[in-house]
Amino acid sequence: MFKQANWNEPIIFNLGRSGRKGHLLPKAEEEIRRAVGELDALIPKHMRREHKPNLPELSEVEVYRHFLRLSEMNYGVDSGFYPLGSCTMKYNPKINEQLANLPTINMVHPYQDASTVQGILEILYRLERMLAEITGTHEVCLQPSAGAHGEFLGTLLMRAYHKKNGEIQQRREIIVPDSAHGTNPASAAMAGFNVVVVPSDSEGCVDLEALKTVVSERTAGLMLTNPNTLGIFEKNIEEIAKIIHEAGGLLYYDGANLNPLLGKVRPGDMGFDIVHMNIHKTFSTPHGGGGPGAGPVGVSKDLARFLPVPRIVFDGNSYRLDYDRPESIGKIRCFYGNVAVLLKAYAYILSLGFEGLKEVAEVSVLNANYLMKKLMEIKGLTLPFNSGKPRKHECVFSAKPLKNETGVSALNIAKRLLDYGLHAPTIYFPLIVEEALMIEPTETFEKEEIDRFVEAMRKICEEAYANPEKTLKAPHNTAILKLDEVKASHPRTMSLSWRMYLKKKV
Ligand SMILES: Cc1ncc(COP(=O)(O)O)c(C=O)c1O
Repeated sequence: MFKQANWNEPIIFNLGRSGRKGHLLPKAEEEIRRAVGELDALIPKHMRREHKPNLPELSEVEVYRHFLRLSEMNYGVDSGFYPLGSCTMKYNPKINEQLANLPTINMVHPYQDASTVQGILEILYRLERMLAEITGTHEVCLQPSAGAHGEFLGTLLMRAYHKKNGEIQQRREIIVPDSAHGTNPASAAMAGFNVVVVPSDSEGCVDLEALKTVVSERTAGLMLTNPNTLGIFEKNIEEIAKIIHEAGGLLYYDGANLNPLLGKVRPGDMGFDIVHMNIHKTFSTPHGGGGPGAGPVGVSKDLARFLPVPRIVFDGNSYRLDYDRPESIGKIRCFYGNVAVLLKAYAYILSLGFEGLKEVAEVSVLNANYLMKKLMEIKGLTLPFNSGKPRKHECVFSAKPLKNETGVSALNIAKRLLDYGLHAPTIYFPLIVEEALMIEPTETFEKEEIDRFVEAMRKICEEAYANPEKTLKAPHNTAILKLDEVKASHPRTMSLSWRMYLKKKV
């Protein structure tokens, strides 16, 4: 069985000794000292630090070993299967990382004059056009830094639209299905709207009758995730669009789950007015640990005038930044967005091409359905909202029967999976499934990897019936064993920086 490395590794501040340093060739050291000296001279005296920063002093080999050991006690998408549902944790081609690291890309400064950054402006402009094509929207804004940030922009655009029409006082409600990602209602509330939740029907789709009862002249719009968080494509999408539009509302498409639809269908063609994408899920940016990401937003022709400034404009000859948009909602983020992340998306789309993107969608759906069929055979698990139809990118199982019969919960299964050298799926989400295990295999794992996961799940469930104590105490083979879940996430025990850690220690 898998056994994770377990080093007794101190934090870097407790390593090294005063005076130790990494080796630099004398000429390089001389040049760095000169450059630093020149920079220092530019800082006014009263703004200079009196003391040297308190940094650890280590030799090169100490630094290397420290981080190597930490990495051995970690698990990432490059280590193996990572079925974290709704997160699309797929392998990201390393060439895209290399491209984003080119000095011609990462050394340009956003304050440079547009005439000196024509190359990057062209890339961003072209990416906007590609994403508009992929989503079937008119214009795309690359600025938002994450999906939730894109949602916030989307709801601000709704506000601007209804304000322009003189209806913002009346249209205070945004409708959100109960299967939505938690960021949807949060974004709507942050933009000042009231959230109205609409339930799912027995097949896991929006309950149309319930929707009709909550739509009114107070409706500002609907936020819909498609495929939804159960992995189900909303089959009544056209009717939903009609109901909302006829009531004067706008349709917002949470496109965080775009992976299985690439090149197949487009939110714009389904009638949606605003769409956000999660670049860090669908288009080649690793995002475990919280970033960096990008959540571009595409909009219909009617809404383009409200997009944040600056817009990148091409006059047939050169690219420039246009701030002259009187109806723009203003800025949502500094400069043009997370450029390195956007560049990786550009490289990913170009390298796959239209046919390649379609294949991404097809294989991700094939993998999810293969996995689902296999897991359906395991005693202790059930597939809620099962109408016998295929899922798209993910499937959500319930471990409720197992929990009732053995006491082993979704959380215990997730922990035991770590003992098999596998990442756990998302658990306890969506909230409409009890003891939920939300599993998304993506297109980047081989059949053998998926089979290995299924086999581990089968063994864990069998073990739960035979010897639940072992499963309840998992994990057994990881660097960090069972955590106290409450303590681990309590602000009083968490130290988010070295300074905070020292303060708490005193
Ligand atoms: C369906 C859905 N919507 C929105 C988001 C929010 O995206 P982000 O985490 O980038 O803010 C996610 C995140 O995974 C998601 O799965």
